[in-house]
Amino acid sequence: MTRVAVVGGHGKTGRAVTAALPDAIPLGRADWDDLPGALAGCDTAYLIAPNLHPDEPTYVGDALAALTAAGVERVVYHSVASPYVPAMPHHVGKAVSEDLVRRSGLAWTILQPGAYLQNLDLSGPVVRVPYDVDAPFGFLDLADLGAAAARVLLEDGHAGATYELASRQATVRRLAGEAGFAAEKVADPRTHPWLSAMFDYYDEHGLPVGTLTLQALLA
Ligand SMILES: NC(=O)c1ccc[n+]([C@@H]2O[C@H](COP(=O)([O-])OP(=O)(O)OC[C@H]3O[C@@H](n4cnc5c(N)ncnc54)[C@H](OP(=O)(O)O)[C@@H]3O)[C@@H](O)[C@H]2O)c1
Repeated sequence: MTRVAVVGGHGKTGRAVTAALPDAIPLGRADWDDLPGALAGCDTAYLIAPNLHPDEPTYVGDALAALTAAGVERVVYHSVASPYVPAMPHHVGKAVSEDLVRRSGLAWTILQPGAYLQNLDLSGPVVRVPYDVDAPFGFLDLADLGAAAARVLLEDGHAGATYELASRQATVRRLAGEAGFAAEKVADPRTHPWLSAMFDYYDEHGLPVGTLTLQALLA
């Protein structure tokens, strides 16, 4: 049976992946004291970097070295849709990390998720986000992420593949409207410069992602 470690497994992403697998082992910050030891007995890993990690390539490179030392054979790396966007530094960190994963010597698969549907507070009466509510997105439901990750981790045939993942294409105004609510752009309450850069990019371009890859994976 495939034994999967989920590195960075305690956040919302890791919980969605772990919940979709029968026997996954979520690993957190403390496991980095001896990551090869924590990976013992696992043949596959799902690799997630913490949100806005200041140096994702180093985190990913260190994780890949630990996977190799532990004898893990397969890795699925959790990247992002449109990783090479120079205006968004944390996306570029994932683009560089994708290259490390492809050159790791492990059997690799890369998932490129769109913005999570669960990032939006759809409880109404007004859905507020810090970017243009009419910008186009491919949103990913975290339940679909779990289902797709389980397919990729537990089935053969996905080594060497890079899949973009979105559950549906929509604007925030459309999603709000479907729930009977209005939508409005508000000032960004956070000050992290990478988030501000991301919202500026979203204002101009959104983050469109196709939905057909996910449909094919889950068919
Ligand atoms: N939000 C979105 O729409 C979206 C879309 C696409 C991709 N992503 C990507 O998804 C990834 C995960 O985001 P998330 O918000 O689910 O995760 P998160 O909550 O930021 O990550 C939590 C995990 O990372 C571990 N961790 C935190 N700091 C660490 C450190 N310095 N060294 C080692 N491990 C550390 C935590 O361990 P402990 O629990 O032990 O502290 C926990 O297991 C990010 O890379 C993000 O860019 C997000």
